Amino acid sequence: MQDEEILRVEHLTKRFGGVIAVDNVSFSLQKGEFLGIIGPNGSGKTTLINLITGFVKPTSGKVTFNHTDITGKAPYRIACLGVSRSFQMARAFHKLPAYKNLIVPLYSPRVKRLGGGKYGERDDVAIDLLDDLGFERDSAVPYKAAGSLPHGYLKRLDLARCMALRPDLLILDELFSGMAMSEVAATLPMIEKFNREGLTIVMAEHRLKELFRVTHRVMVLNFGQKIADGTPKEVMSREEVQKAYLGTEVEG
Ligand SMILES: Nc1ncnc2c1ncn2[C@@H]1O[C@H](COP(=O)(O)OP(=O)(O)OP(=O)(O)O)[C@@H](O)[C@H]1O
Ligand SMILES: [Mg+2]
Repeated sequence: MQDEEILRVEHLTKRFGGVIAVDNVSFSLQKGEFLGIIGPNGSGKTTLINLITGFVKPTSGKVTFNHTDITGKAPYRIACLGVSRSFQMARAFHKLPAYKNLIVPLYSPRVKRLGGGKYGERDDVAIDLLDDLGFERDSAVPYKAAGSLPHGYLKRLDLARCMALRPDLLILDELFSGMAMSEVAATLPMIEKFNREGLTIVMAEHRLKELFRVTHRVMVLNFGQKIADGTPKEVMSREEVQKAYLGTEVEG
């Protein structure tokens, strides 16, 4: 199923009053690809993700997922089609134990349709997913109230929530922000593994060094516009990309 288009974004634009947060952005993604999205603060990365996943309605343009027009559809509909996204500010049901936070995707019509485990086994699926992401099953961590967890755990819980939906496309919005180096080091190989197993991944990230370890293709946004799309080496050697990053610290 390689070389088959999974996502197509055409002339996508979002205006907030006088601000053009996303300005006529087009790109497409093949199944199994790993695309990095980079750009300075306020360049439109989160808005682009919000547009693709239905959290924000576009001013104009079109989004096609698996040959279905999903432009402006509700977030839960897009999720049920197989697009999972994490949040820059990780959200959780704070009063629930961490593993119970995965209830919503695990009991979703999508997972039911795909033939997830029996209802009684869903807690085991949740614990397995969390264990892979550093919530050791034999420790107290997966059973603690999500609200009591440190920030880095909340970000990984958000990733586990995404994976529980058994997505075809995973979109990560600054997953590594606020994570300790050791957490990033432990999470990167898991993300690589998901991609190796065939999952298509889009990752907006400021931590370029870590991003460039896992992706061969990077798209650069600046003031809402796509200014480069290519290998990390290609895009970082472009003058307009260096100018966009002038005054900001480029890692890697
Ligand atoms: N709901 C909104 N209302 C008004 N303006 C918005 C809204 N959301 C985003 N913007 C503006 O759109 C632009 C792009 O913001 P966005 O959050 O998409 O950038 P970003 O690349 O994700 O930035 P960061 O790296 O800081 O996360 C900014 O100028 C921002 O202020
Ligand atoms: Mg953002």
